[in-house]
Amino acid sequence: MAGNEKETKKITIEDLAGVGEATAEKLRENGYDDIMTLAVASPKDLSEVSGIAEGAAIKIINAARKAADVGNFETGEEILARRKDVRKLTTGSKNLDDLLGGGLETQSITEFFGEFGSGKTQIMHQLAVNVTMPFEKGGLEAETMIIDTENTFRPERIVQMARAKGVDPDETLKRIHVARAYNSHHQILLAEKAADLAKEFNIKLVVVDSLTSHFRSEYMGRGSLAERQQLLNRHMHDLLKFSTIYNAIIAVTNQVSARPDVFFGDPTTPIGGNIVGHTATFRIYLRKSKAGKRIARLIDSPYLPEGETVIQLSEDGISDGT
Ligand code: GTP
Ligand code: MG
Repeated sequence: MAGNEKETKKITIEDLAGVGEATAEKLRENGYDDIMTLAVASPKDLSEVSGIAEGAAIKIINAARKAADVGNFETGEEILARRKDVRKLTTGSKNLDDLLGGGLETQSITEFFGEFGSGKTQIMHQLAVNVTMPFEKGGLEAETMIIDTENTFRPERIVQMARAKGVDPDETLKRIHVARAYNSHHQILLAEKAADLAKEFNIKLVVVDSLTSHFRSEYMGRGSLAERQQLLNRHMHDLLKFSTIYNAIIAVTNQVSARPDVFFGDPTTPIGGNIVGHTATFRIYLRKSKAGKRIARLIDSPYLPEGETVIQLSEDGISDGT
């Protein structure tokens, strides 16, 4: 993937059949500024965003795919090769890392869901600190982009957590790029712009905290559910695409809504339902326990056994606590 990216930089979008100067300008204005971005675009999005006919969009995308050498199919062998690039990031808790088979994975989306105060935002802060750390300490020597929808990013917490890890707080803060998202459309746009940031910085972690809060408050009632799910679906796929192209981790948070009609005994279910559930590769359900303890349960993993473990939230951040 990374190799492809470098090679395609030599070819510009004007080199594609069907892209004249005017079209190129329209495409660039809308962020479709290189071959790879075009190659993985959806015809419908491209046509809507750039105002070109869908048929023309399909032709351009196909030309970009050919130029970028991106087939529609990958062989099992190719996927295995790509999977070899998967890196893991520590959560700060050995218990939780073990539950996840070593930590959060690149090329995938991990969703943390649970009620208010269950520790989702604290975990996001901890991941942003950990990703800057050396490989031998479970880090990725890289940077973070945070899409903050609830204005809950606190640099002071980063400073505390960095100190606890023995890393320089100022250097850590410099590696965290935070954008406030003011509504769901803004949030989607920011996720699309992640690629721009990744061209400048070594972004290996994208946090969306919270994934669903804007969608939930803007699209209320039955009539708007389909539209909400469609937008959320597109947003998740944008994030997943980014994670594969840049070999990065996506970590998102989600609240729960009471659904006693669905879950007996455990009256909670994550917002966004199937759409979020099917696109997130790993889902972790957080429950409050005594003092700063939280119970983390892994749900619906493609290849890891379900299970749960205990983590500790404290001044120093996330740990096993014992
Ligand atoms: P919502 O966003 O409201 O859904 O909640 P959340 O799941 O994001 O909760 P969050 O991560 O904000 O967790 C809040 C909890 O973390 C608090 O109840 C505290 O127990 C703990 N916490 C937050 N900051 C500190 C801190 O500085 N020191 C300690 N000891 N605990 C903290
Ligand atoms: Mg929060």
